[in-house]
Amino acid sequence: AGSAMAVQDLAGRRVVISAGGTREALDPVRYLGNSSSGRMGAALAADADARGADVTLVAAHLEVPVPSCVREVRVSSTEDLEAAMRREAAEADIVIMAAAAADFAPESVSDLKIKKHEGRSRVGDRMSLDLVQTPDVLAGLVAGRHRDQVIVGFAAETAPDRDELLALARAKLERKGCDLLAVNDVSSGRVFGKVDTDVTVIRQQGSGRRVRGSKMMAAHAILAEACSLLAP
Ligand code: CTP
Ligand code: CA
Repeated sequence: AGSAMAVQDLAGRRVVISAGGTREALDPVRYLGNSSSGRMGAALAADADARGADVTLVAAHLEVPVPSCVREVRVSSTEDLEAAMRREAAEADIVIMAAAAADFAPESVSDLKIKKHEGRSRVGDRMSLDLVQTPDVLAGLVAGRHRDQVIVGFAAETAPDRDELLALARAKLERKGCDLLAVNDVSSGRVFGKVDTDVTVIRQQGSGRRVRGSKMMAAHAILAEACSLLAP
């Protein structure tokens, strides 16, 4: 797969990437979701394919097409994502969690469509939802990984300045225990749904690498970093 010109540095390697945004059902017609388009994950899948990898994309409600030659596994909720990633990552050399996973899900899903109080409802009436935290898929993958597997996380952060952005990213990398963390500044509508991105890739040791440009360029840089960590 991939063009004849591309470096085949992932030939014979298995890469599993999650992309998109999960949805947590409230009732048969409603859900809690987020505005991740799946562009970053799709770009990663295309780049991994061009490098010669066997690529699986675990896709949660993508708004973009899945690159050809990439195997797609569709998921909806964070719980689905966890099950699919646990299964698909078992044999993977590189695992990348680019999906925006819902952190909270409704405590229960209503079998029937939730109704207003018919007849006596008014503008301004309140309703509340009890939400419970979902499993941390990335942390679970790190805990269960085989040796030599490279695991990459993403972080979308809002911070007043770059120093604070990087401090948040360092803390998250530490907490998650993954090898690389790609951090996006999502303050005031940057990045989400956009073609261009500003991502900094940090590793456990050493300084970060910043890429500003297309999501394809960012994907290429992230995979180069992941490649450099693979055991020969
Ligand atoms: N992630 C995950 N499972 C979750 C939530 C997040 O695997 N339930 C993954 C994301 O795919 C991403 C990384 O964890 O690769 C960081 O996601 P992020 O939302 O930035 O971190 P959280 O740990 O959820 O912390 P918070 O949202 O509170 O900043
Ligand atoms: Ca989160």
